[in-house]
Amino acid sequence: MAENNKTAKLSFDGKELELPMLSPTAGPDVIDIRKLYAQGDVFTYDPGFTSTAATDSSITFIDGDKGELLHRGYPIDQLAEKSHFLEVCYLLLYGDLPSAEQLEDFESRVTNHTMLHEQMVYFYRGFRRDAHPMAIMVGVVGAMSAFYHDSTDINDPWQREVASIRLIAKMPTIAAWAYKFSIGQPFVYPRNDLDYASNFLRMCFAVPAEEYEVNPILSRAMDRIFTLHADHEQNASTSTVRLASSSGANPFACIAAGIACLWGPAHGGANQACLEMLREIGTPDRIPEFIARAKDKDDPFRLMGFGHRVYKNFDPRARVMKKSADEVLDLLGIDNNPTLQVAKELEKIAIEDPYFAERKLYPNVDFYSGIILDAMGFPTSMFTPIFSLARTVGWISQWKEMIADPTMKIGRPRQLYIGAPMRDYVDVEDR
Ligand code: ACO
Repeated sequence: MAENNKTAKLSFDGKELELPMLSPTAGPDVIDIRKLYAQGDVFTYDPGFTSTAATDSSITFIDGDKGELLHRGYPIDQLAEKSHFLEVCYLLLYGDLPSAEQLEDFESRVTNHTMLHEQMVYFYRGFRRDAHPMAIMVGVVGAMSAFYHDSTDINDPWQREVASIRLIAKMPTIAAWAYKFSIGQPFVYPRNDLDYASNFLRMCFAVPAEEYEVNPILSRAMDRIFTLHADHEQNASTSTVRLASSSGANPFACIAAGIACLWGPAHGGANQACLEMLREIGTPDRIPEFIARAKDKDDPFRLMGFGHRVYKNFDPRARVMKKSADEVLDLLGIDNNPTLQVAKELEKIAIEDPYFAERKLYPNVDFYSGIILDAMGFPTSMFTPIFSLARTVGWISQWKEMIADPTMKIGRPRQLYIGAPMRDYVDVEDR
């Protein structure tokens, strides 16, 4: 971020303020309003942060009009094609692609932290058997602050590093165990000879009674899902993590806050909601009925998996996900999957419909991810936990960037108060 020679002039109430402007390495210039209140005695009003940059960051860049997503400058489609999740984790965390030795060292550090503290088993057992795996994730990740107290001092760079590795390493075990608990099967412990995605699949689908062979194509597809969800700039859950950590809260508590935010159907919960919607539509002939509902202002229904706050073009992750869905269904011999037929037809009809075209509503990453996860054997309740597992590295990278910034301030938005002006208390008998 560099201060350029440009300024923005703001006039109101007979005052004139000259505000500095800052230039990013990519994307639009920003007007620096940090001194606006001190100099002009006014706030800005921007609910939903539609025009507000809440931070500077050098991790991820999105050009929503072009449908472009870059991690540390590298396009997501190249990373999804040529790289793999743990290498992308390294890239997000440390800023550059690793050398062969750096990658080996990083992978070994992650692999050696995959087990959970054995007492966490009792923590799991305290949940109701039918608990949603996301509810378990929020609780267990928050509880890590109690189990790993030796890595909660955010002012110690070594503890920050240990907490980061622990979170990335343990998240597959935490998510897989949330699943195992919810279906009444015994926990499967991690195996360090397997890669990250294969280990997760095994912890979800193996049972002690028989050996489980990981299919390499499914493991590659799983790894690609992780890669495509790894980070996404200042979205709602990442901003939640940043806001929570701006008070100095420990990393496990902050990531638990991110998971809670991700759960909502307008964000990470959309993949579950999308597959449920596709199933509810059932057959292509019912699509017009649902399109009509999505357009009806009096109906709260929205087409799940469509639209995005930033992308006003095809979500680049959706393109890769669509290709991956075709590969996985082909491998599994599911060529006439009715949900996929509905998805393909719905995409075609919606894209051609002027309502969606005018509002630039295109399929987002969640539109196809559910189809792949369903084909792999995951229930819909596991879709969002898998998203949180993958997004953990993004949250942590953003958290580390923020904590390391000496100018970091507690996040404290202001408001436009529209309540009652000051009035005197009236005793109850006089009301
Ligand atoms: N179906 C129908 N109409 C829609 C949809 C949709 N999915 N999304 C937006 N619109 C319409 C709105 O009704 C609004 O129309 P109007 O201008 O006539 O009032 C217009 O498009 C703009 O919508 P906003 O809600 O202002 O857009 P915003 O940027 O706030 O919302 C969001 C983005 C939340 C993602 C929204 O598109 C949505 O709810 N989509 C469905 C849920 C979903 O798929 N979420 C996943 C996001 S990706 C992720 O988190 C990984």
